[in-house]
Amino acid sequence: MKRFEDKVAVVTGAAGGIGSAIARRLAAEGALVVVTDVNEAACNDVVDQVKAEGGDAAAIAADISNKQACAELIQRSFALEKRIDVLVNNAGINRRGNLLSLSEEDWDISFTVNLDSMFHLCRATLPLMVAAGGGAIVNTASQWGLYPAPNHIAYNTTKAAVAAFTQNLARDFAPDKIRVNAICPGEIHTPMLEAGVKRSGRTIADLDKLVPIGRIGKPEEVAALVAFLASDEAAFMCGSLVEITGAQAVA
Ligand SMILES: NC(=O)c1ccc[n+]([C@@H]2O[C@H](COP(=O)([O-])OP(=O)(O)OC[C@H]3O[C@@H](n4cnc5c(N)ncnc54)[C@H](O)[C@@H]3O)[C@@H](O)[C@H]2O)c1
Repeated sequence: MKRFEDKVAVVTGAAGGIGSAIARRLAAEGALVVVTDVNEAACNDVVDQVKAEGGDAAAIAADISNKQACAELIQRSFALEKRIDVLVNNAGINRRGNLLSLSEEDWDISFTVNLDSMFHLCRATLPLMVAAGGGAIVNTASQWGLYPAPNHIAYNTTKAAVAAFTQNLARDFAPDKIRVNAICPGEIHTPMLEAGVKRSGRTIADLDKLVPIGRIGKPEEVAALVAFLASDEAAFMCGSLVEITGAQAVA
């Protein structure tokens, strides 16, 4: 399938587990992908990987906790082909803790990276998409933003806010043919998940057993969902929060 031929897609957190899979998938389907992440060397590695697979990508490193950096990232991305068709707000951080054990810094940075970045990136991108007659935005929320999960109050609250942000943005800009949807993954095998597993003293095999389908998810499976939501095939999907969990319920 080549659903993104002649299109430009910006993917944040594109050096990470899910983000790199999204970048590779969109590029494999014809998009010029802007691979952006705070980790510049890893951005370059993903671009090399995309090109080795026959796709096209450009690395633009940015720290999206910085408002100005968000605006510059979108300006530089637009300058490549004078268009941005797809924005995937995927970057995120996961700070562990409950109300009392979490530091104020962790609370603040969780909102800055997981939520405020979307506000700034969408504010910079929306006028360009509206002027172009449409576009697609996919935000990465989490199953943990929909149902309470223990000991991650900052993370889960930011993801709940991402879900609300997505639905409200969709409602406001659907008349402009901007489709905004969010994905809500369960447990997906990435560096973020491995770090959490290590902290908890569990193993990936332990997690596999908790998922009714028999295993945790793969980044490529999430990327396939994002590609669908970002494509014209999902033309009537707008304001949706799509869970991808292997039927796992939050314990
Ligand atoms: N892995 C899971 O089980 C899971 C489940 C639900 C939701 N998610 C969400 O999926 C998204 C991707 O997570 P992942 O598991 O691939 O994690 P990851 O840690 O592999 O990737 C996250 C990426 O975001 C980047 N990033 C962090 N702060 C940034 C900043 N200030 N500026 C720019 N880039 C920054 C990191 O450098 C990293 O490359 C996140 O939003 C995460 O919350 C993951």
